Amino acid sequence: MKTLIKNGRIVTAVDDYNADILIEGETISVIGAKLEMEADKVIDAAGLLVIPGGIDPHTHMDMPFGGTTSADDFRTGTVAAAHGGTTCIIDFAIQPKGESMLKALETWHEKAAGKAAVDYSFHMIITDLSPKDHVPEMRHLIKHEGVLSFKLFMAYPGVLLADDATIFRAMTVAGEDGGLICMHAENGIVINEIVARALAEGKTAPKYHALTRPTKAEAEGVYRSICLAEMAGTPVYIVHLSCYDALRKVKEARDEGIPVFAETCPQYLFLDQSAYEKEGFEGAKYVMTPALREKWNQDELWIGLRMNDLQLIATDHCPFCFSDQKQLGVNDFSKIPNGGPGVENRMSLIYNGGVAQGRISLNRFVEITSTAAAKIFGLFPKKGTIAVGSDADIVLFNPNKKMTISAKTHHMNVDYNCYEGMEVTGVSETVLSRGKVVIEDGKYVGKPGDGNFLKRSNIQQALRPMATSSRRP
Ligand code: URP
Ligand code: ZN
Ligand code: ZN
Repeated sequence: MKTLIKNGRIVTAVDDYNADILIEGETISVIGAKLEMEADKVIDAAGLLVIPGGIDPHTHMDMPFGGTTSADDFRTGTVAAAHGGTTCIIDFAIQPKGESMLKALETWHEKAAGKAAVDYSFHMIITDLSPKDHVPEMRHLIKHEGVLSFKLFMAYPGVLLADDATIFRAMTVAGEDGGLICMHAENGIVINEIVARALAEGKTAPKYHALTRPTKAEAEGVYRSICLAEMAGTPVYIVHLSCYDALRKVKEARDEGIPVFAETCPQYLFLDQSAYEKEGFEGAKYVMTPALREKWNQDELWIGLRMNDLQLIATDHCPFCFSDQKQLGVNDFSKIPNGGPGVENRMSLIYNGGVAQGRISLNRFVEITSTAAAKIFGLFPKKGTIAVGSDADIVLFNPNKKMTISAKTHHMNVDYNCYEGMEVTGVSETVLSRGKVVIEDGKYVGKPGDGNFLKRSNIQQALRPMATSSRRP
């Protein structure tokens, strides 16, 4: 199958030019001006941006959490991702406490097999790392299974929290074998104390989720993560960074040349703590961890993105329906399942808030929605760019089209949208996943199971050139 994309404006993290693209099978085979080759399908991209498919390296499909399971499975979640111009996700498999990580990986392979509409890969959440059983498993995952990144939690005591010894051990193994540790950096033990105090005082409404999770608890977690990683001699990646206090710790470390990387998420750029004040129990829709912060933090996060102290934007897509799942915490905010939807809206939100509103360049938009994730997580240049030999994961993005975000029209399997009613400029119109059109004129035309599992390799080698701060000469 040959597909020719004509008349488009190709934008990567570093280039911006007009050219045609020939796709043969699953990969890009020729890029050039006015290509006249025979093709089975010709797509006219006049007036459109031709960008690499988005990569969302932080999703939770079909994840048991908070006494329920996230509402999107690998079918609904990846179809929604495709609609939004994301052609690759990295999801989190979870090691149940004390159990085998290899078994956990098998479970997540079963969840995704035959369902995914776009390519996917896995991180592993480590809850236990005994030197005898689990360290060899971790090494096996890195060497043989293509699972090179691992998330550890300083939050959620008694559920996912790992102590400092476990975190340090995991970092040491990652440093030795070429893996990467992703940290949920928030002091969950102190937060639990504050939560218990609030509940004892009868403070049960959703807004107390934010009021019991100070930004200092996140900053402390980030700083501890950086120190532990430095002692272990390995890079570290901070997930879902939400506030200036935490960002400052990342920036200080990067200014010292310490290899720290961090993502933020659309919810921290476009939503703020006032969402918890909504009528009745509505605030539960925004109960996610870290919590939404005071609005002024948003400007600081955009500066972090511009200065490359934050490398990318992931979603932390972890949807729970308001009508039944969020209600689990109707009498106690600490029982509201933590997480919110977002995988479908990321590209449009970031284009609208970033490029259309003049905060970042078009190249930086591509970098923070696709290229940086590919580089950090060992998928580049197969993914994350438009180049000869790369997978033909391509989005034809209309920078002028407007769309109003709504749960009535979104494709995520959840009954609300955090950005309900927001008008955005910039819409993914046609989406190709490994050369195959999966979204055409806003409609899903692929089939679940088209998506392949991506084994990754060589993470730390990929991180080396990116390790030092852009601010130092
Ligand atoms: O609230 C969140 N973020 N839920 C998903 C789990 C996590 O901590 O990433
Ligand atoms: Zn987390
Ligand atoms: Zn998450």
